[in-house]
Amino acid sequence: MTTEILLKVEKLTRRFGGLTAVSNLSFDVQKGEILGLIGPNGAGKSTTFNCVSGFYPASEGRIEFLGEDISKMNTAQVCHKGLVRTFQHDSLLTDMTVYDNILIATFSTISVKSERVRRVHETAEILNLSDHLQDIAGNLPHGLQRRVSIAIAFATRPKLLCLDEPLTGLNQTEVGGALATFRRIRDEFKLSILLVEHNMKAVMEICDRIVVLDHGIFLAAGSPLEIKQNPAVISAYLGKRA
Ligand SMILES: Nc1ncnc2c1ncn2[C@@H]1O[C@H](COP(=O)(O)OP(=O)(O)OP(=O)(O)O)[C@@H](O)[C@H]1O
Ligand SMILES: [Mg+2]
Repeated sequence: MTTEILLKVEKLTRRFGGLTAVSNLSFDVQKGEILGLIGPNGAGKSTTFNCVSGFYPASEGRIEFLGEDISKMNTAQVCHKGLVRTFQHDSLLTDMTVYDNILIATFSTISVKSERVRRVHETAEILNLSDHLQDIAGNLPHGLQRRVSIAIAFATRPKLLCLDEPLTGLNQTEVGGALATFRRIRDEFKLSILLVEHNMKAVMEICDRIVVLDHGIFLAAGSPLEIKQNPAVISAYLGKRA
């Protein structure tokens, strides 16, 4: 089977003063896969997202998306290329409706108004938000706010959707629904997902491959089964969790 590399992170290092949050990290995301990025608190997962999506420049290293060097691009440019991310802590426009939150995201990629409106409704249908479009985002319960965050990112119809802890605070039913949605959008829209998540049951269930970070350093990569059985990963992170 031939694989096509969508994102290539090569020797990424990001320092904050004297602290090296990510150190010499290399990994790929292949087309159509759901790749998990896991590791203990402070391992450098969100920093990796910030560098990949253009929020922070890398201190060193190269980030390639569809064969193009995006290391020096800003978030808007990276989004135009088809790479978007959600935030670990929701970043909704809390005084605005769900409709307007999603609509604003469509301005970056769609110039025709009727198409933007269509995109909002299609996105809301896929994220099960159609009944909440006129609700004020900040008034929604946590689980729905998480879905709105994903809708905002997905509304741009990315090729790579980077999700930073999308399952935090969701109950079991909501986690099941979210995983079904991730699979649906991956299959229907042929996108790839880079998933940062501490819910190990969900990660093991949904990811095709997993990359493990510890203290900013690459620890392991492999299938969920390989990662579950890796002694270094068990000792650094999983313990008896997985
Ligand atoms: N803007 C920043 N300025 C200074 N230090 C930062 C900044 N962002 C992250 N760090 C530090 O970099 C390290 C990695 O943080 P990061 O948020 O990437 O970890 P994480 O793997 O996402 O952790 P968590 O699972 O808790 O979300 C931490 O020590 C953190 O304090
Ligand atoms: Mg984080």
